[in-house]
Amino acid sequence: MKVEIKDLSYVYPSQDCALRGVSLVMEGTTPVAIVGQNGAGKTTLVKHLNGLLRPTSGQVLIDGVDINTHTTAQWSRKVGYVFQNPDDQLFLESVRKEFEFGPKHMGMRKEEIGERVEYVSNLVGLADQLDTHPFDLTSTQKRFCTIGIIMMMNPDLILFDEPTCGQDAQGIRRLRKIIQELRNQGKLCITISHDMRFVAENFKRIIVMKKGEAILDDDIEKVFARTETLKQCFITPPPITRVAQGADLKKTPFTGKAFMEAFEEERERRICQM
Ligand SMILES: Nc1ncnc2c1ncn2[C@@H]1O[C@H](COP(=O)(O)OP(=O)(O)OP(=O)(O)O)[C@@H](O)[C@H]1O
Ligand SMILES: [Mg+2]
Repeated sequence: MKVEIKDLSYVYPSQDCALRGVSLVMEGTTPVAIVGQNGAGKTTLVKHLNGLLRPTSGQVLIDGVDINTHTTAQWSRKVGYVFQNPDDQLFLESVRKEFEFGPKHMGMRKEEIGERVEYVSNLVGLADQLDTHPFDLTSTQKRFCTIGIIMMMNPDLILFDEPTCGQDAQGIRRLRKIIQELRNQGKLCITISHDMRFVAENFKRIIVMKKGEAILDDDIEKVFARTETLKQCFITPPPITRVAQGADLKKTPFTGKAFMEAFEEERERRICQM
């Protein structure tokens, strides 16, 4: 799977310019995180990857095919977008019907739909809620229901828009498992999140957006080392990273283990200097 975004700009009908010349390439199976303050253009960007929005100028290619050559319904077989607000995605009267709707319209075999309902509902933790009305689910379950709906279609590219929003620790663990599972299946996952700890623990490549531009695109260590730029974007690295930066460590750790290693290295370096 390869996503190419070439000099993409987008102006809403209200004349709000939400994207200003964004160019990015994402390919393979390494999950990518997109971060940035509210209104930076993250949702507008990912909505271009399944044709929900069409470029005002520039180009989006999915596996070399221009996004404008197909409808959003056609792209939905290949690209799944999990909405930022679950209520925008749910419209049927049971979780099972929501799960079956997309595959039925794709012409998936009945037996395969049944197998996928079992697999997906277990993965998203809704196996015992299949007959529940989606609006009777908790907000966390609703979010997992929308993730399940997209997974049912088995797309190659999955776009998660703020999946961490409102999640407790158990939900975050489940989300991590889903992202790992998708990666193991050879899918590409692009995830928007405000939760820097979740981002630090699950992603290697980070794209930082600011006022419609992708201003940083790099390995997580390098991005979290750009303290000043992040400050301008109102992005706060995880607490452990800030402790390390306060201690003036040479490396930029973002997990407890990496912090201990960096701390040890620094201690030895300083002892050698004495
Ligand atoms: N439907 C719309 N009509 C007009 N302007 C819009 C619309 N949706 C978004 N915008 C504007 O486009 C810009 C980018 O919005 P977008 O929703 O893409 O940002 P975001 O980074 O996803 O923000 P958030 O973190 O709040 O979800 C903002 O200035 C926003 O006000
Ligand atoms: Mg958004």
